[in-house]
Amino acid sequence: MVLATTQSAFCIVELDSIDSTNEEAKRRGLQGAPEGLVIWAHRQTKGRGRHGRSWSSPRGNLYVSFLLRPNCPVAQALQIGFVASLAVAAIVGDVLPETRGVRCKWPNDVLVNGRKVAGILLESASDPRGGVAWLVLGIGLNVAWRPEDVAGAYSATALAHEGLAATDLRPILERLCRHLEDGLAEWESAGFGAVRSRWLKSAYALDDRITVRLADGTVTGRFVGLDASGAMLVSDERGTIRVVCAGDVFPPDHQSDPLPVKA
Ligand code: BTN
Repeated sequence: MVLATTQSAFCIVELDSIDSTNEEAKRRGLQGAPEGLVIWAHRQTKGRGRHGRSWSSPRGNLYVSFLLRPNCPVAQALQIGFVASLAVAAIVGDVLPETRGVRCKWPNDVLVNGRKVAGILLESASDPRGGVAWLVLGIGLNVAWRPEDVAGAYSATALAHEGLAATDLRPILERLCRHLEDGLAEWESAGFGAVRSRWLKSAYALDDRITVRLADGTVTGRFVGLDASGAMLVSDERGTIRVVCAGDVFPPDHQSDPLPVKA
């Protein structure tokens, strides 16, 4: 294990391998580790994604979790996911030669040329007064390795497939820390409105028809914006606005049936 500091307020702990950086940050958070701890692992044996999915984590990609203790209710703290996706979009824009195709997909994915390059997993617990006891912000960024496409899921890409030549992870992580620190400062001082305006400028499918897969069905309509909490606003054909708090966004014609098994 190597301990290092960046030029930012974050303190990075670099690990060769761990079950999940989110799990390790949570373990240390429960033992009283301070805000700003960053767990970075070169591989994960039990990397996890949103909605209980697994996150393939071989060497070559970035797996990192930030321990944060924001002074606000848990629901508000989840807005940090938008801050984080903007930070990831910014580094992707910094390092790729062609940056026009970088988009933030609700709630917290980052796409390059229509393919998912990064995912974000927020986990938290509240204290007895409804504040945040701990919050772990986990980021998986595909740098050198691109996961195979999975039926019904978004196609994935990696920075190396999009033209990045130098896949050294440390400078990417240090850039990420700086963008995240700036974004958190903006969120704290200017509020979610400022973050939401920036996010909407790079939003995937804003004003387009989309389908959102929910836990218990789907919603199809036009993606018209975010409410003050970060929930997605979807307008149906009669103009009725649905407020969507959790789900996966796809184009309306996305293939959601399992792909045929190859012989
Ligand atoms: C998603 O489903 O899109 C979110 C994926 C989040 C993956 C990252 S990798 C680092 C951190 N540790 C985990 O186990 N998951 C997150």
